[in-house]
Amino acid sequence: MISSSLPREDGCIVDHIYKYQGFWYMEGYLDGLLAFQKQFKANDTDILLASTPKSGTTWLIALAFAIINRQRYCFTTSEDNQKHPLLTKSPHELVPVLEDVYALVKDDHDQCQGTDLVTTASNPDGKDHFERRMFVTHLPYTALPESIKDVESSKCKIIYVCRDPKDNLISLWHFINRLRPNRNLEPISLEVLFERYCKGIVTYGPIWDHVLGYWKQSLERPEKVCFMKYEEMKREPKFHLRKLAEFMGHPFSMEEEKRGVVDDIVRLCSFDNLNELNKQGEVVRLLSFENMNKTRKNLLSINKNSWFRRGQVGDYANYLTPEMIECLDKITEEKLHGSGLQL
Ligand code: A3P
Repeated sequence: MISSSLPREDGCIVDHIYKYQGFWYMEGYLDGLLAFQKQFKANDTDILLASTPKSGTTWLIALAFAIINRQRYCFTTSEDNQKHPLLTKSPHELVPVLEDVYALVKDDHDQCQGTDLVTTASNPDGKDHFERRMFVTHLPYTALPESIKDVESSKCKIIYVCRDPKDNLISLWHFINRLRPNRNLEPISLEVLFERYCKGIVTYGPIWDHVLGYWKQSLERPEKVCFMKYEEMKREPKFHLRKLAEFMGHPFSMEEEKRGVVDDIVRLCSFDNLNELNKQGEVVRLLSFENMNKTRKNLLSINKNSWFRRGQVGDYANYLTPEMIECLDKITEEKLHGSGLQL
């Protein structure tokens, strides 16, 4: 197991997290990362949705899913709308998380295994369900397999969403404390998480390095990487929906614009609507394996509603002290200095 030789710190939901190539990972996902890097073969039509946790991933999944599959699931009448998978499933059940899928790979030498798992995961009903393969990942850009990154051989597209680190931290804090009781853990204090967050010692952190990795790629290869900000999406959802659709190669036609499809998708994927639709039910996620041959899984049930809280910009002001705000802003300024990016 690779983790035995890596720097280790306490995790917030798992016992430990490990630092690998500059970023922190949960153990089960670290194995998944290695299998993913080795085995994943991108298709030209693949779409990868990337983010750090709590940056608006759920919203991005819903929007991208609704864009791609809009011919199949119409929006014109409420009767058609009833058929839409987002009305009955969490966005997280519709699009597989790549490191989750690859964490299940049992044998490092079996090249087919990951491919099979990916095919099944991106086709949850066992039939040709969706229009294009679409995946989610929280992995940093540098950790993605060459078959995704290589512009010569792969035309697959990446959409990245980021968020003001202050709101990201508060969202993460609430999310962690929603999950900790499932593992019989006491809530973690904001002070403790703040310290870890500032040092970058949270899963997939340091978040500034994560964001910068995708930001630089979006400047160098705008046709391959689309960089979105949660705050801007909140301000102008229709503009960003159109931008996403265009980037993905599925622009809205005049006829669709006239029919109000843009408004329908924005409404379907709005915080209020998805929050209401996801009050019940759970999604089960792998945390780690209890044994070396990966037959006993350590699973975590996540209430579908855990991904929805307030969905507002600036909520951090209700929790962070002026000193904390100053400290985080300073780190952000220093880290992003000279990049042209502002968060
Ligand atoms: P808050 O905790 O600030 O409310 P992720 O999906 O990456 O886990 O991010 C979760 C954050 O996005 C939460 O933020 C959640 O409320 C918000 N969110 C979830 N769905 C949303 C939607 N459809 N529109 C806007 N924000 C949404």
